[in-house]
Amino acid sequence: MKVIIFSDIHANIDAFKAFLALAETIDHERMYNLGDTVGYGAGPNECIDLVRYLNISSVAGNHDDVVLGRYEPAKFNPDGRRAIQWCRGELRDENADWLRTLGDFFWIDSVQGKALLVHGSPVDKDEYIMSKWNAERAFTAMMERDIAISFVGHTHKACLWLQEIDGSPSFKPQSECEGSISLDPSLKVIVNVGSIGQPRDRDPRGGFVIWDDEQHTIRFIRFDYPIEAAQKRITDAGLPRFLADRLAGGY
Ligand SMILES: [Fe+2]
Repeated sequence: MKVIIFSDIHANIDAFKAFLALAETIDHERMYNLGDTVGYGAGPNECIDLVRYLNISSVAGNHDDVVLGRYEPAKFNPDGRRAIQWCRGELRDENADWLRTLGDFFWIDSVQGKALLVHGSPVDKDEYIMSKWNAERAFTAMMERDIAISFVGHTHKACLWLQEIDGSPSFKPQSECEGSISLDPSLKVIVNVGSIGQPRDRDPRGGFVIWDDEQHTIRFIRFDYPIEAAQKRITDAGLPRFLADRLAGGY
């Protein structure tokens, strides 16, 4: 089974369309969306319309929850907060209703065992796996719940966290992952799939992964998209300039 897993579209319809066009050329059975479909960008309805039309299995991210008013964006930066307020005003009722239907995770029964798909971490969907400490907690949670592999987004930085033989986590950024990466089936792994619409690893291209569970390989893919069109959409909508600028810098 080959699946495409992606995250953090962030209402970037220009990136999302480029991704979908590329995905059409890739052999795969299903696609999974790890959340933050909205927030920051200027095309929330356009993105949700396409996810719904294509019936892509999706979970809720923190921006999706905040747009729905499940909690207030107190910890967001001022630009992020403005984008949330704007999105709340823009989102069509049917698309808000669709966001409300999303759960917090998916399980896949794979050849390698149980796979968890969640926005942030197996510990907590809102936790960022940014350090060995977070990764160690996540591996402990995976061992307790017999999870072989986890797929996450949330940090917008594609990478692998690999469990070493002594149980400790090792970090591998996507820049060190050329081609198909063969995973050790006896050790746990956390795959951060990166972000479609707002990557933050200084590479402005959108990103996603292909997982082949039979071969147990991960392939990170990056793709170009019309960044200037996405930036214009943001400024035309009256959203903060910083949200447009960061797309070109990949931060
Ligand atoms: Fe995000």
